[in-house]
Amino acid sequence: MRALQYTAFGGPEVLAVVDAPEPHAGPGQVRVRVRAAGLNPLDWKIRRGLMSQGRPLEGPGRSGFEAAGVVDEVGEGVTGTAVGDDVFGLGEATHAELALLDAWAAKPAAVDWAVAAGSAVAAEVSVRVLDLLGVGAGSTLLVDGGAGGVGAVGVQLAVSRGATVIASAGEANQGYLTEIGALPVRYGDGLAERVRAVAPEGLDAVFDVAGKTPPPTLASMVSDPAQVVTISQFELGDSGIRVTTEPGDRAAALAEAARLLESNGLVVEVQTFPLERAREAVEISESGHVRGKLVLLP
Ligand SMILES: NC(=O)c1ccc[n+]([C@@H]2O[C@H](COP(=O)([O-])OP(=O)(O)OC[C@H]3O[C@@H](n4cnc5c(N)ncnc54)[C@H](OP(=O)(O)O)[C@@H]3O)[C@@H](O)[C@H]2O)c1
Repeated sequence: MRALQYTAFGGPEVLAVVDAPEPHAGPGQVRVRVRAAGLNPLDWKIRRGLMSQGRPLEGPGRSGFEAAGVVDEVGEGVTGTAVGDDVFGLGEATHAELALLDAWAAKPAAVDWAVAAGSAVAAEVSVRVLDLLGVGAGSTLLVDGGAGGVGAVGVQLAVSRGATVIASAGEANQGYLTEIGALPVRYGDGLAERVRAVAPEGLDAVFDVAGKTPPPTLASMVSDPAQVVTISQFELGDSGIRVTTEPGDRAAALAEAARLLESNGLVVEVQTFPLERAREAVEISESGHVRGKLVLLP
């Protein structure tokens, strides 16, 4: 099968589409014939060796943590899913023609493959953070970095729970934030003042997606700094801000995303690229200014 791989840590130039052995579903897994696979910043952080703690690359480097596709092999112990089902979900090495998923949900028939594929990682992390923050009806939430892969899904999941959502993005993405149901603000210096102007009653919670705003600024926006949860900054000192890295209930998060996708409560703008043009997609991802989701089509 064709798969995106690399043999040394490095920039986009180390990526190549190669002929790789087919994987087989282990216990609790399904194998899908991939129709679309999302690209995440974690893919390039791993490929650049930033997560290796100095260890050399072992075996071929593979990428991709989410995909949508048609089940073509079912592992031991899996119930309720059969060969031929259309699903989307979370796995590893999904930037390939065939991939294994460890958690999945049925893909609603009317939902585009690329949109479903690009929702999985973002839905899992967003549901995890919104649950930690207790976001629900009547909450006022800031999503800092609301226009990218995770942020756009986090905004819409919070809106669907009845929250008022303020979200930050660059100038070019202010309109996109409005389209997905957020009150838009520009990020950068003066963020706290701009948020206060939009939400004079104050915030109940902050979802720090982008990890670019200094922790003291984020903490100053809520009465209790534990009501700031970040997924992308780790030097938090004694700010009281919480960080989350471990997956939560993946199946429940995917099911919540599937319901929203089906009812058009979750709409993701996707940019798609054939696997052979993955480097172009990766360069956009590494720029840090992504609107919606980058998706590869094997
Ligand atoms: N801990 C976890 O479990 C977990 C899980 C998933 C992702 N993550 C991390 O979450 C981060 C975001 O992922 P993603 O997929 O959403 O990335 P992405 O799709 O690349 O989007 C990045 C977004 O950040 C925004 N941004 C850039 N500079 C900013 C600033 N100064 N202030 C606020 N926002 C800014 C950009 O907005 P503009 O385009 O408008 O500039 C862009 O929309 C990554 O670091 C990723 O590794 C962590």
